[in-house]
Amino acid sequence: MIITKLKLKNFRNYNDNSFVFGKNTNIILGKNAQGKTNLLESIYICALGKSVRAHKDSDLINWKCENSKIDLDLEKSTGKSKIEIYFLKNKKKSIKINNIPIKKIGELLGELRCVFFSPDELKLIKESPEDRRRFMDIDLSQTSKIYFNYLNKYEKLLNSRNKLLKKFKEVNKKKIFNETSTTERKKRKVSLYKSKISKFSEQIFISRYSFINALKPYATKVHAFLTNNAENLEIDYQGSLNNQINLEDKKNIKEKFLNLYKKNFEKDILLGYTTVGPHRDDIKVSINSIDVKNFCSQGQQRTAALSLKLAELEIIKQQTGEYPILILDDVLSELDENRRNKLIQFCSKTQTFISSTDLPKGLKNINIIRILNGKTI
Ligand SMILES: Nc1ncnc2c1ncn2[C@@H]1O[C@H](COP(=O)(O)OP(=O)(O)O)[C@@H](O)[C@H]1O
Ligand SMILES: [Mg+2]
Repeated sequence: MIITKLKLKNFRNYNDNSFVFGKNTNIILGKNAQGKTNLLESIYICALGKSVRAHKDSDLINWKCENSKIDLDLEKSTGKSKIEIYFLKNKKKSIKINNIPIKKIGELLGELRCVFFSPDELKLIKESPEDRRRFMDIDLSQTSKIYFNYLNKYEKLLNSRNKLLKKFKEVNKKKIFNETSTTERKKRKVSLYKSKISKFSEQIFISRYSFINALKPYATKVHAFLTNNAENLEIDYQGSLNNQINLEDKKNIKEKFLNLYKKNFEKDILLGYTTVGPHRDDIKVSINSIDVKNFCSQGQQRTAALSLKLAELEIIKQQTGEYPILILDDVLSELDENRRNKLIQFCSKTQTFISSTDLPKGLKNINIIRILNGKTI
């Protein structure tokens, strides 16, 4: 998969700019605040249908303008394709693939696949489980539309369930909770969700659990490579169900979720939200059997995050037959020379975009794009 062209119109600090990319490594070179990250962000938006750093789509439109457009041309093993995304102030964005408008983001996912790494990705290790779930969800959504649909349905259902649970909590607080027919009805309604929510939980769990198990050997291998075999990285899925799971026995997994929601029903009502389920799951990451989040240095955490992302390249290749695009935003300056050189070796596997303030050494077949104040020079 290769991006051949990109056109930005009124996107962030770009007014009207076209870029032609090389099929190997593309270096986006420029001083601070010139638009390097903005350019990479526009590519990632074409993969996910939304920005991971903007709060709302209108933030992406140039401050002086009313609308904005991204045009991206791709070459894949299946042929050429074209993604267009229009942003209009106060309106819903519209997306076209090969000139045909799409109705749902789900239709875009998988058209362009990217692995994105920036210093901010340190939160994948350091921050809350939500960041680690996002990592799994973004990967799985790019490789499976079914997963994306299940996740959406699960989130909607969870929301409705939590709203009902919150109402119960409020009623409880006022101490007027009694077994009236209305409360009983509502209680039954919440309880009814159990079957649906268990079905979606089962699907999400199986996909994530399989993803982490597939990623595990690659992540260990990549990390050993980046650290000259000094460190042994291990990852494990930490789910609401304990990990003694037989994935062959799918009926059993749904049953386990049903029991889990049943067991926690009264607690959920008391607290006013769903206390168990895939929305609480996590990934445990350790180096030489030590928990990375709490006990390892920032450098180790950064390398662990990088190992997960680079391993993701291999998983996507394995699952789709093609390497995704690799985007490295401001990453090289954060690594020591040894790790930087090792990382550079990965860049030859696939089309890579690297933003940097200085020209990195040791890269072959590079295409340099110099950026100054939202313009190519
Ligand atoms: N919607 C917008 N309209 C105009 N300029 C913007 C918009 N959003 C961000 N910018 C500006 O874009 C500039 C470049 O940002 P960025 O791409 O993050 O720089 P860098 O080259 O350091 O990665 C910043 O100075 C920021 O103020
Ligand atoms: Mg930047």
